[in-house]
Amino acid sequence: MAKLKVYEYPHPVLKQKAEKVGGVDDEMRKFLDDMLETMYAENGCGLAAPQVGVSKRVVVIDIAHEGEEPNPLYMVNPEIIWRSEEKEVCEEGCLSLPTLRAEVERPASVRIKYLDYNGDECELCAEDFLAVAVQHELDHLDGVLYIDHVSRLKRQMLIKKLNKIRSEAKRG
Ligand code: NI
Repeated sequence: MAKLKVYEYPHPVLKQKAEKVGGVDDEMRKFLDDMLETMYAENGCGLAAPQVGVSKRVVVIDIAHEGEEPNPLYMVNPEIIWRSEEKEVCEEGCLSLPTLRAEVERPASVRIKYLDYNGDECELCAEDFLAVAVQHELDHLDGVLYIDHVSRLKRQMLIKKLNKIRSEAKRG
C-alpha cells in the first residue's frame, strides 16, 4: 500500500466532475487500499478520488471512532437514489480544506447504491453522521465542496481564514 498526496483547495481537480469507473478489478482494489491508507494517515473519515488527483467516481469512508474496530466502506460509482425530506445540520471538515469547519444542512438520511470492494452491487440506507459523510464524499465526485453549501459571505470568511493559516505556516 502507498500513501497518496492529498490535493487541497483550490486545485482544479476538486472542481471537476469525476468519471464513472468500468468495474472493480485488482488495479482498482489496489487504489481503494491506497485511498483508505491515505485517509487513515490523515485522520479523515472519508476520502474521494478527486482529492488524490484521480477524477474517478470512487470513495472510501470509515466513521468508526478512535479506539473502535475499523469499519471501512468502499464505494465505486456511488449514486444517491433517495433523499429524506427531513434535513439536519452538522459540522463538516474536509482534508482538502485543512483546519476549517463549518455547519452544513443536508437531507438527514439517504439511500445509495454502489459497487463494493468485490465489485458487487450494494444498497445502503445511511443515517446520522454516515449520511453526512456519504453526501459530503459524493459531492466531491461532482466537483462540489462543503463550502459550496454555505452562504457566500461565510464561504469568503472560511477561505480568508485558510489563506491566513497557510501564510502563517509558510512564515513558520
Ligand atoms: Ni471532503
